[in-house]
Amino acid sequence: FSLRHLNTFGIDAKAHAYVRVDNAQTLVAVNADAELSQLQRLILGGGSNIVLTGDFAGLVLHLCNRGIELVDEDENSRFVRAAAGENWHGFVQWTLERGFGGLENLSLIPGSVGASPIQNIGAYGVEIKERLHSLTAFDFETCEILTLSNADCNFAYRDSIFKHELRDRAVILSVTFALPKHWQPSIRYADVAQELAAQGIDTPTARQVSEAVIAIRTRKLPDPAQIGNAGSFFKNPVVSGEERDALLARFPQMVSFVQPDGSYKLAAGWLIDQCGWKGKALGAAGVYEKQALVLVNRGNAKGQDIVALAEAIREDVRQRFGVLLEAEPIFV
Ligand code: FAD
Ligand code: EPU
Repeated sequence: FSLRHLNTFGIDAKAHAYVRVDNAQTLVAVNADAELSQLQRLILGGGSNIVLTGDFAGLVLHLCNRGIELVDEDENSRFVRAAAGENWHGFVQWTLERGFGGLENLSLIPGSVGASPIQNIGAYGVEIKERLHSLTAFDFETCEILTLSNADCNFAYRDSIFKHELRDRAVILSVTFALPKHWQPSIRYADVAQELAAQGIDTPTARQVSEAVIAIRTRKLPDPAQIGNAGSFFKNPVVSGEERDALLARFPQMVSFVQPDGSYKLAAGWLIDQCGWKGKALGAAGVYEKQALVLVNRGNAKGQDIVALAEAIREDVRQRFGVLLEAEPIFV
């Protein structure tokens, strides 16, 4: 089964077996199947955060269930539940069309609702951990449907329990978001503030914040329909205050952002850019010319081409800055 159209890098790899998942019963049936239940699993949404390093000898479970519903409300929040197979951006638009603010900063992130908790997706000053109420997931270990609260998910920057204890074991089926009734725009991120100011908007609506984010993203990030990519290829490294000061003494232009706990997030894009990689290529894998943190498929790249380029970049950044970059996408 070819996965070429099921990953935004556009890598042409094959899977041994594929099952389309429209509901939890399909997963129960897979679990009861003598052959399928023995295979290694790849839980797949939009394929926008994976690197297929070769053919996959296991079973692809492709989440395709649909449905979005306002399930409840209280004084402060509206609770909206979306099925895992819903497209993330389509879901954000659904909320905005109804005048429900809260997810607008996360507009235009590719992929599915079901994958949004995996790395606690974030952009332009908001992460989903600030909006997620709870979720349901099928647990292959117990064959039961779990309900996890926000706290159960152990969210952190680009991280959650689904990358650790529950990796390849829990299939997220639906996610419920708590959207604030007393909404305030979140325009902490300089790019968003600048974009709105340029349009002469000082008290934006949620829709206007969404449009500003879409404009910025369209300028900076390649559209996977045109150029294969998986968004940021590395996480922004987090270092201590002392480490950041030592680096800043050597590289006064270095970009860093202080975190609530006093540590600093370095801009991996800046580090890679400084090593001269922006717009460069290694065979069929390249570095996007407008954003050094994004690796791209220049046409017919194999997973191994992407891996080789990522390694070369990691090594250069390590030698020049002594900083270790960690990949963001999941390697399959
Ligand atoms: P997939 O790639 O299909 O899967 C990713 C991981 O999640 C895999 O480990 C998979 O097994 C697991 N998974 C998927 N669905 C489920 C499920 N239902 N249950 C359990 N596990 C599951 N990310 C950001 O955070 N911020 C951004 O601003 C951002 N911008 C991007 C821009 C571009 C152009 C691209 C291509 C990607 C960007 N990303 C960004 C990364 C990506 O969009 C997110 O990680 C997204 O959540 C991936 O969704 P997906 O459905 O494509 O996941
Ligand atoms: N920079 C450079 N050169 C580059 C790229 C960036 O100098 O080639 C500098 C920029 O000038 C800026 C800083 O690095 O000062 C940060 O750049 P940007 O605002 O583009 O954000 P980022 O750190 O590269 C992160 C997320 C994105 C998210 C944006 C907006 C990570 C790993 N990436 O990117 O998420 O959309 O912020 O919030 O945290 C993703 O995860 O796939 C993703 C796209």
